Amino acid sequence: VSIADDSEGHDLSLFCVPKHYEEDLDSVIIPSGLIKDRTERLARDIVRDMGGHHIVALCVLKGGYKFFADLMDFIKTLNQNSDKSVPLTVDFIRLKSYSNDQSTNSVKVIGGDELSALTGKDIVETGRTMETLLKLLNECHPKMVKVVSLLVKRTPRSSGYRPDYIGFEVPDKFLVGYALDYNEYFRDLSHICILSDRAKEKYKV
Ligand code: IMP
Ligand code: MG
Repeated sequence: VSIADDSEGHDLSLFCVPKHYEEDLDSVIIPSGLIKDRTERLARDIVRDMGGHHIVALCVLKGGYKFFADLMDFIKTLNQNSDKSVPLTVDFIRLKSYSNDQSTNSVKVIGGDELSALTGKDIVETGRTMETLLKLLNECHPKMVKVVSLLVKRTPRSSGYRPDYIGFEVPDKFLVGYALDYNEYFRDLSHICILSDRAKEKYKV
């Protein structure tokens, strides 16, 4: 699903947003209902493509946790309501590369013991984080690695990397909410919103 570069999103007053963030956001760009609907379809495509293979689902924390949990719930629902089902185990890894709204050059990896199969991620901007993780995963010689990212940013800074499954393609703006953060703030916001320039100053480290 492509969200146009000139899309201004929805007025904040049309949705429920925590009081403590009202002044910090320009608009709601992807309401949580739409995120869920798109995730449901991604789950169906993944289960179809996995053809009964065991899935080790790897969540990339922290930004990927909401998307991961919702995606797993949809896969579970498919598993318990159809004739075919795919066995599912989960694992978690933590990556850190961002300070303020800029990528730092290092990608820090913490945790993860059974690295393989399906990787669930929040957002791909330059693609550098994902390329680093894939290199690491391939050292474990998994049978197959598929990457699911809820968002891919349209940006000239992209390395050209494309995940296997994409929820939404989004404009080159800093987005927060649905577990995406700015210096750890805004993970407690349900909708994906455009962060205001004022807020970038306010929460700067
Ligand atoms: P990449 O390595 O440039 O692809 O950056 C991906 C990582 O940067 C994501 O996992 C996020 O942690 C962070 N990131 C990039 N763009 C955004 C954004 O718009 N909002 C929040 N985090 C972002
Ligand atoms: Mg972050």
